[in-house]
Amino acid sequence: PTDPLVLFMPSGKRGRFPVGTNLLEAARLLGVNIESVCGGRATCGRCQIEVQEGGFAKHGIVSSCDHISPKSGREARYESIRSLPVGRRLSCSATIQGDLVVAVPQDAVVNAQVVRKAASDRLIERNPAVRLCYVEVDKPDMHKPLGDLDRLKAMLTRDWGIHDPAVPLRLLPQLQKILRKKNWGVTVAIHHDDNGARPEILAIWPGLHNKAYGIACDIGSTTIALHLLSLLSGRVVASSGVSNPQIRLGEDLMSRVSYVMMNPGGCEAMALAVREAVNGLIGQVCTESGVDAGDILDAVFVANPIMHHLFLGIDPTELGQAPFALAVSGAIHASAAELGLQANEGAHVYLLPCIAGHVGADAAAATLAEGPHRQDRMMLLIDIGTNAEIVLGNGQRVITASSPTGPAFEGAEISSGQRAAPGAIERVRIDRETLEPRFRIIGSELWSDQPGFPEDAVRLGVTGTCGSAIVEVVAELYLCGIVSEDGAIDGALAARSPRIVANGRTFSYLLHDGCPQITVTQNDVRAVQLAKAALYAGIRLLMEKQGVAAVDMIRLAGAFGSFIDPKYAMVLGLIPDCDLSEVRAVGNAAGTGAMMALLNRDCRREIVQTVQRIEKIETALEPHFQQLFVDAMTLPHKVDSFPNLVK
Ligand code: FES
Repeated sequence: PTDPLVLFMPSGKRGRFPVGTNLLEAARLLGVNIESVCGGRATCGRCQIEVQEGGFAKHGIVSSCDHISPKSGREARYESIRSLPVGRRLSCSATIQGDLVVAVPQDAVVNAQVVRKAASDRLIERNPAVRLCYVEVDKPDMHKPLGDLDRLKAMLTRDWGIHDPAVPLRLLPQLQKILRKKNWGVTVAIHHDDNGARPEILAIWPGLHNKAYGIACDIGSTTIALHLLSLLSGRVVASSGVSNPQIRLGEDLMSRVSYVMMNPGGCEAMALAVREAVNGLIGQVCTESGVDAGDILDAVFVANPIMHHLFLGIDPTELGQAPFALAVSGAIHASAAELGLQANEGAHVYLLPCIAGHVGADAAAATLAEGPHRQDRMMLLIDIGTNAEIVLGNGQRVITASSPTGPAFEGAEISSGQRAAPGAIERVRIDRETLEPRFRIIGSELWSDQPGFPEDAVRLGVTGTCGSAIVEVVAELYLCGIVSEDGAIDGALAARSPRIVANGRTFSYLLHDGCPQITVTQNDVRAVQLAKAALYAGIRLLMEKQGVAAVDMIRLAGAFGSFIDPKYAMVLGLIPDCDLSEVRAVGNAAGTGAMMALLNRDCRREIVQTVQRIEKIETALEPHFQQLFVDAMTLPHKVDSFPNLVK
């Protein structure tokens, strides 16, 4: 008779095993990641699974709870002390007795949040670089005078297959006490990144220590966002964000580079400011979740090249001028202690590789999250900030460029522009006949012409226009004929509508006649034209390099990209024509990529290999770029058409 068939869900991995095979062992053999801290002693409870009942015709399996061994004495003991949810079993203490469909609970394999955000069709299995291993070390024996550490290492090899890990000197003075405290049972945190480096012991605790956390952090020039994740379950336990305090030393990236150039000690001050902010966030997420910072064992950071260098204390001056030389482009392995971060003394830090002098580890992380390199079809991934980072490709070839969009989309250089915050106008519609506007502000569910809006307007204030509204209002002005194809506000319409007002030698559109008055000036329209032309020209250049006339799907990442309406982005000619159902906002894709790299060391290898084969296009060196830019100044474009908008 053939051996029973065991299918693990949700991964779908399956295999045949002889009756009596340990279920955790079977999972391991198939490469299904089920956590175990205690090494199968039925004490940590991390290896829980659920048996699915019934017939699974598609797989030719009839699964039943009778096909798994009954609860053993040690499993029953665990249940009486710690309790098990109904239907859950400890896979380390169960054996296969017949065909089985086994569900590995989502929180034990997959970070549901990561999967949801990544919009990826694959599951991110948890396989972190740091794991906890419980061992029971032999007591010392006068006849076998092997040191305590050497006997500990022998157990790590025997029980966990870990060979000769490196041990930092700082752990040795504490070792003997720790080993004796809980009768020679200890939990060891091992870091093994699979990058060819030796495994390393990060920390040792007496007895069973069942807690391990990591942080994933996106250091943006405007905002720093940090997530605290359990490395054992993969769940995000707390998240927080703060304005980048470097803003007080320089509003945008180039002014921060200038600050470093002009001020002795400026680089150190920048590094300190951002590290203190990160520590502040770690403090916040730990307090919120009740996690001890000493249990943070790993950290992944992503950032644009200048932020990346400033976080590491590297002078970014070279990045401010051609040829935009990075001090280091590869992935970085460091210790939290070196960076002064609040975490376990032995915690590791990993920074994703930078792609080029203008395309940073944040773009690498967004690439990891959205996976253009995993697609059959052509994917365009755009992260819009002061620079737009553009990635275009598929499984065959991925190319990237950055384009200087300037700060218009972030609300800067726009007369009534502001960052997205309560009170900022975020949506705009203009009546085609009357040319009267209606709008929505952040913090209110109502349009400005709906009952109840005046109360919201008083409560929140109507303070300015954020990036998404700037795109919409210029697109609406164009659709109404107030703004022409070349971007001029038509002053002749002033006779028809009081909304068109003279402003020196040009005209403005009065969007909100309140306090403050919010207008869209001719200069605002020009700033949007320049920004969108830079972005579109960058995209068009990459499309030419790829030899494609259209893209199959578009992913808009980052704070700005996530809020713009794809339809208006296309009306304005910000993005190329594409089936609108294939245009998707993906939120902070860089942060998602950081979480993936934290939870799964294979993701680190994947992005390092991908970055090596991404081709970098330097827009400034492309003679053709200027022409593409000029063509893209027209609304929506001088020559390109947008058939998907007409549909
Ligand atoms: Fe620890 Fe099963 S592996 S309880």
